[in-house]
Amino acid sequence: MRFLNLLFVLFSFSLFAQQGGMWIPSLLEGMNENEMQNLGMKMSAKDIYDVNNSSLKDAIVHFNGGCTSELISEKGLLLTNHHCGYSQIQSHSTVENDYLENGFWAKNLKEELPNPGMTATIIVRIEDVTDKVMNGITETTPEDERQKQIEANISRVVSTSPKESYQENRVRTFYEGNQYMLFVVETFKDIRLVGAPPSSIGKFGSDTDNWVWPRHTGDFALFRIYADSNNRPAEYSENNVPYKPKHFLPISLDGVAENDFTLVFGFPGMTDEYLPAIAIEQIVTSINPARDKIRTKALDIVDKYMRNDPQIKLQYASKFARIANFWKKWRGETQGLIKSNAVQIKKQQEQALKKEIQRKGKQEEYGHILLQFESYYTQIAPYNLAREYFMETVLRNGELLRFAFQTYQLKNSYDRLGAQSFTDRRENLLNSFTVQYRDYNAQVDKEVFEALLTLYVAEVPERFLPDALKNADIPQLTQTVYQNSAFTDYEQLKQLLSGDAETAVQRLQEDPGYQIAAAMADAYFEKIAPDYDALDLKITGLKRGYMKALMELSPPETRIFPNANSTLRVTYGQVKGYSPADAVYYEPITHLEGVMEKYIPGDYEFDVPQKLIDLYNSKDYGPYTDEAGRIPVNFIGTNHTTGGNSGSPAIDAFGNLVGINFDRVWEGTMSDYFYDPAISRNIMVDIRYVLFIVDKFADASHLIDEMKLVHPKKDQAQKSKKSKRKRK
Ligand code: ARG
Ligand code: GLU
Repeated sequence: MRFLNLLFVLFSFSLFAQQGGMWIPSLLEGMNENEMQNLGMKMSAKDIYDVNNSSLKDAIVHFNGGCTSELISEKGLLLTNHHCGYSQIQSHSTVENDYLENGFWAKNLKEELPNPGMTATIIVRIEDVTDKVMNGITETTPEDERQKQIEANISRVVSTSPKESYQENRVRTFYEGNQYMLFVVETFKDIRLVGAPPSSIGKFGSDTDNWVWPRHTGDFALFRIYADSNNRPAEYSENNVPYKPKHFLPISLDGVAENDFTLVFGFPGMTDEYLPAIAIEQIVTSINPARDKIRTKALDIVDKYMRNDPQIKLQYASKFARIANFWKKWRGETQGLIKSNAVQIKKQQEQALKKEIQRKGKQEEYGHILLQFESYYTQIAPYNLAREYFMETVLRNGELLRFAFQTYQLKNSYDRLGAQSFTDRRENLLNSFTVQYRDYNAQVDKEVFEALLTLYVAEVPERFLPDALKNADIPQLTQTVYQNSAFTDYEQLKQLLSGDAETAVQRLQEDPGYQIAAAMADAYFEKIAPDYDALDLKITGLKRGYMKALMELSPPETRIFPNANSTLRVTYGQVKGYSPADAVYYEPITHLEGVMEKYIPGDYEFDVPQKLIDLYNSKDYGPYTDEAGRIPVNFIGTNHTTGGNSGSPAIDAFGNLVGINFDRVWEGTMSDYFYDPAISRNIMVDIRYVLFIVDKFADASHLIDEMKLVHPKKDQAQKSKKSKRKRK
């Protein structure tokens, strides 16, 4: 994206500073290193990533595949977000001992709580394997053959590249299939919960404040990695010992000020920064509004029940948060894409690229790309929208529909692979149903079902609908399903699925809940998916060519960064406020005073624990204050982050931990498609707030003793004073 901007800007002869990007840590030397040092970094690229010596990257840990975490002691202490450890914290909670509500603090290693199934992955080494993966591929290899060949090449690279027995090789693509990198990783499996603040700190502000600045959330939790006696990954065992990392992050007590350099190191999930204007236009005018419509309906219904019934509130809190999280993000994204003029700017950039293609005589190779983008995106639009409706209705918001869809897949495996496969999979599915049904309320779901199907029939073009929904009486259908389907109750469903495969499948097909889900799924797989997939494959090939054109035709100083793909990345920037609207300016740092300003006694989002109020009143802050004697809580910066960056360390100019990334600001969430340095900001917890809570609020100073606290700014000031004196 930045690159495109630059291209455009070059043609319009006015240069401005470029920012943003999520960069591959093994390739920082040169341009990125210069840029970072110009922004104030005092380290070298090798301090961040080095194969032969310990470096920052050895402290960065992929947390359970979805979030990021960082090592902060030589005993494997791991810091991440409260919302990343949420389900682990919940899994250890009971009504009597509710760690979500009250927090949890292990007093010693023995009290730390194991989490079966959890993983923590460390990157050992990154290597460019593009040549090996591209072996045998030419410009003219057809797209589907190409994919097969590449998969075969990747398998070979994975199985033949050197690694230790306890390590794993993974290959991922970058720049839309133009580059391939090998990752040698170690995955730890004994990860224990060490500490978590109460939700009134860790989730303070909840959904109201989610994606919002100014923010006051203590979104952190502590875990510990355990290893075997050789310091290697191992399944949980009482005999395991705390992992001794190659590197852990020292923690700065000096904090940050506006314009300070920061680096965020983590595992961003997915971005799409090089979409053509037409794709962005479709997101703004069609896809996001559809998602919004669907989720608004579902959330309104769930919210109504949650407010009236404490039992339902407990059951649906986490599901509601998950649905609401993206609902809100997409709203901000749409608004940001409009406000930043993304479509218009992309169009201008495409014009500039077109001219450049002509100028360099590259029409043969690249001349078709922009035209075909127009054509394919126009063709895919109705399928894309119908697909989104299907996903949102059947898989993401409806519950009975999702359960029934899962059994539809089970039946498919029966059809394809026979009875044995059915019985094998049934076991797993029933296990997952015990969990899913624990928090299920058929009354809530029934109302969501009726509302969403009504919308489905109204909005999805008739040619994509199953016959069962054409001219259907939705209220009547809802009534029938929720009165007669076994899917409204776990025990009934278990009964229905019991016995030999043939009978179970027979019963399944007679169930009205199953019937409607299966009809919708059949219609999806027959009328929507085939064309969608075919066009999507073409677009994938086109994106690769587009990317190649951009990389080849852009001026050498252009910044082109690969889209996020859940691999380890470095993003950097500065602590900075922003102006979200005319005459409004947001400062970059919040304080404990702001927590007290937002405090609403007894409110489920804005209550504050009494002990924190007491500490605030007595100003018992310890060494964790800023120069003005206040406790900083959150801060924002220009680091380009996305989902998956939650829990990532914010690192200062010297390589010390100053914060934990956990969110972005509402106005800037379009940065997944279009990073705008004026309003895109990431939100971090100030590490001093974390230390203050651990030490003063939780009385867990034994954890502080494990950490390495440093004063980089004070040390530097002293050094420069000394050298000045010498010069005199
Ligand atoms: N918006 C943050 C992240 O995407 C935090 C989400 C958790 N908090 C919440 N209130 N749902 O994904
Ligand atoms: N909360 C997000 C996460 O879980 C980070 C916010 C974002 O999307 O930037 O990764």
